Amino acid sequence: MTNLTQSAKPGKRLKITGGGPLYGECEISTSKNAVLPILAASLLTTAPVTIHKVPDISDVKNMFTLLRAFGARVSVSGDAVTITTKSIRTTSPAANVIERLRASILFMGPLLAREGSVTLPLPGGCRIGSRPIDLHIQGFRALGAKSVTVNGQVHAWGHPLKGSHFYLRFPSVGATENIIMSATLAQGTTFLEGAAIEPEIDDLINFLISMGAKIDNRKSCIVIEGVDELSGTDYTPISDRIEAGTLILAAAVSGGEVRLHRTDATHLKPVCDKLMEAGTEIFPFGGSLKVRGCGACPMEIVSSPFPGFPTDMQAPFMAACCFAKGKSTVNETIFENRFLHVEELKKMGADITIEGNTAYINGFGCLHGAEVTATDLRAGAALCIAGLFAQGETVIDNIYHIDRGYENFEDKLLKLGANITRLS
Ligand code: UD1
Repeated sequence: MTNLTQSAKPGKRLKITGGGPLYGECEISTSKNAVLPILAASLLTTAPVTIHKVPDISDVKNMFTLLRAFGARVSVSGDAVTITTKSIRTTSPAANVIERLRASILFMGPLLAREGSVTLPLPGGCRIGSRPIDLHIQGFRALGAKSVTVNGQVHAWGHPLKGSHFYLRFPSVGATENIIMSATLAQGTTFLEGAAIEPEIDDLINFLISMGAKIDNRKSCIVIEGVDELSGTDYTPISDRIEAGTLILAAAVSGGEVRLHRTDATHLKPVCDKLMEAGTEIFPFGGSLKVRGCGACPMEIVSSPFPGFPTDMQAPFMAACCFAKGKSTVNETIFENRFLHVEELKKMGADITIEGNTAYINGFGCLHGAEVTATDLRAGAALCIAGLFAQGETVIDNIYHIDRGYENFEDKLLKLGANITRLS
């Protein structure tokens, strides 16, 4: 049940007893990666912004803490949240939250655009890689801002920002979002080339347009004509393609039949294509998908920016490959250190070797239950997939990582027939 006012879910471990096919249906929650930039973008206006179907995940609650620290009034009613920011602080006292939440960097664009100045602690590296912010800063500079980083604080200033041409040398999702948000209130027109084209970017653009922003999303070049001010809005972000992908994968490996509501097949093409090549049947109907699984098969996965195979799905797919009979490969091209789940899967009997950014999986059809630790969000999802089909009992520690991004994940799996319990 949604409880956006409760601070954290009780219990830090999940117990899963491996079992048979999954059957049933469930509704996919709102996308974490769509709602986080939208929450940050709400600071672009003094008028009330209401966001519906907000997922009950800890990254969202940390965004609320930061919004309040910047001076916003955040009121929650069921799964709707209204944010009103009459006046704003451009530095946040909640440094501990900023360090925990990578998406805090998304406040830079809106604060710079609205107030002409922002100072934030660097969000820092994280376990999946160093995660620099150079592309965000280059984008702000292209719009006429100046920036310095001193003692772990990044300070950017410039008012008004000026529209310009900017080419992103890599389609960073976060940098694309920050540059679009900052350009909405700039003087003149910004032409952003080389931008990321993930569905969450389209959703942010649609949200900003609903606030009165003038954005022409041409894919090869996003054109943002600056306006003097933005208005309030009512908006429901898109559903979570990574949560959907994880449940589609679970259904496929289980050999069962599952219906997932509130899904967009166009967002899931690379994931569905991979599974359909391996024999899973997937039928879109209305806003739903029916998945008829056929067990695990060896796969070759290469992560790449959208419309390629999502890096956020490579860990769960690697877990699935362990249940196939034969050799699979997973090549991670986006993040430098996104194989932390491998050591945990090995505790369950997986035979995986890593060379550079490629993992070689020698699948022999089964894993056994073990005590394992979620090292990051998607690694946690991978361990759930492993535990669902392993022989015996798996206990996953540090599930706060899973709670960061998957809403009521164990409830959804329970509904589909999994044997899963949160241990308090
Ligand atoms: C977003 C998603 C995350 C997903 C990732 C890639 C959110 C909240 N998070 O993260 O779930 O895994 O996209 O699809 O939406 N880079 C630079 N300089 C920069 C920015 C990025 O070198 O200034 C590099 C990063 O180190 C990384 C790559 O670009 O190697 C991709 O990062 P990016 O697309 O920015 O990911 P995020 O927006 O942080």
